[in-house]
Amino acid sequence: MDYSYLDLNHLDSILKIEQESNPYPWTEVNFKDCLEKGYYSLALEEEKKLIGFAIMAISTEESHLLNIGITKESRGLGYGEKLLKKMIIAAEVMGSKKIILEVRVSNKVAYGLYQKLGFEDIGLRKRYYRLPDGREDAHVMSKSLKKGILSKYFFSKN
Ligand SMILES: CC(C)(COP(=O)(O)OP(=O)(O)OC[C@H]1O[C@@H](n2cnc3c(N)ncnc32)[C@H](O)[C@@H]1OP(=O)(O)O)[C@@H](O)C(=O)NCCC(=O)NCCS
Repeated sequence: MDYSYLDLNHLDSILKIEQESNPYPWTEVNFKDCLEKGYYSLALEEEKKLIGFAIMAISTEESHLLNIGITKESRGLGYGEKLLKKMIIAAEVMGSKKIILEVRVSNKVAYGLYQKLGFEDIGLRKRYYRLPDGREDAHVMSKSLKKGILSKYFFSKN
């Protein structure tokens, strides 16, 4: 299992994951936009084949997990959890106080993963996601991060 930074070479595989995950999938333009903006974006590969990706906007006050996906055939094997743990560590190391995210209320698998890794409900965004026949609410979830990881490196007297 290898991690690398997401780049344009991963685009076709990411779009496939996205299309098999969402009724209104992100487009190529959405992903290119994230890469151009320099969001923290990881690819998870097994034997050079992309099996997952995650994208997060990192900032010190509050990082925002924008997307995460695992190929259909590799779900339920622990990859999503491993990838999300990497994103959490990255936000911690960068000095973020917390990570927030939105998840469809019907997405029990992702919701379970987020709960398992310590994300808590902080609200509901009404009609946040599009559906073929209407709109769906989103849970807003947040995880507080360990304080001081950054200061340990930058402000230590040693
Ligand atoms: C959500 C997703 C990233 C999870 O990744 P995954 O590799 O399938 O999940 P993992 O195998 O790492 O499982 C981690 C936890 O997720 C939850 N989970 C995973 N599969 C589940 C299932 N079929 N039913 C219920 N919970 C499940 C459990 O809490 C699990 O922990 P456990 O194994 O101790 O029970 C993946 O299923 C996916 O890509 N889904 C489509 C895209 C998506 O919904 N992205 C999130 C948008 S907000």
